Amino acid sequence: MSERAGPAGVAPLINAAVDVLSAGDPAQKTAAAFAAADLMNDAAASPAGTARRSPPDRPARPDRPALVAPGGAPRRRLGSAKGRAALLHAVAHIEFNAIDLAFDMAARFADAVAAEGLDAAAFVRDWIRIGAEEAYHFGLIQTRLAAHEAAYGDLPAHDGLWEAAEATAHDVAARLAIAPMILEARGLDVTPGMIERLEAVGDHDSAAALKIIYRDEIGHVACGRRWFHAICKARSEEPAAAFRAMKDRYFAGALKPPFNHAARAQAGLERNLYEESVS
Ligand SMILES: [Fe+2]
Ligand SMILES: [Fe+2]
Repeated sequence: MSERAGPAGVAPLINAAVDVLSAGDPAQKTAAAFAAADLMNDAAASPAGTARRSPPDRPARPDRPALVAPGGAPRRRLGSAKGRAALLHAVAHIEFNAIDLAFDMAARFADAVAAEGLDAAAFVRDWIRIGAEEAYHFGLIQTRLAAHEAAYGDLPAHDGLWEAAEATAHDVAARLAIAPMILEARGLDVTPGMIERLEAVGDHDSAAALKIIYRDEIGHVACGRRWFHAICKARSEEPAAAFRAMKDRYFAGALKPPFNHAARAQAGLERNLYEESVS
């Protein structure tokens, strides 16, 4: 385990983020996420020393679900409890990965943000707050899975989310472009349709959980966009051109319309930035 000094005062928070990444069991990972947020919100917590740990290359995860190659998932028929459970399971997997993506952002890139002359402590705090929200989202979906007599791990899940993270582990701007500004923004595009389909079959409780997630995710995209722009400014790069370059280099596939322009605008995403990256 390596130890290094870093931006003053953030060492305990970064260590708490590494604890989240090191926990494989879902209950332990979410507990560690809430503990990190509690530590951050505890004004009395003293920044004890500067020695801190590095994030693992790959976060710990449970034995199940089995991970399979992305793509090929059939459209789920939500009229049956089984179909709804499959949809909820896919969402649970996204939220579980989102916990790790947020805490990895905090732990991996604090130094890089400081090196750009930006406020690394604010960056770490933003992503710990978001990581705790992801743990809350995961819990909401676990409850809905249980209502369908299912649990996270019951079905196979795809591994594409962490592949995107590994490809961008060396550059905070690339990670911000791919994770919050492409993947989480895509969530804003597709979630209203899922809510509608769940309402149509009378699963109002699952729809209500997705509405909470949708609201919070607008904030996650906004946060990613804000830091991306700050880094572009520090590097004297034009954001739309930089975003395009990152997407071409690190994102396999095209950005898929139709876009939810209203939600993207709420997150501050400039229309030209993503529309110029469609092809
Ligand atoms: Fe989420
Ligand atoms: Fe999120």
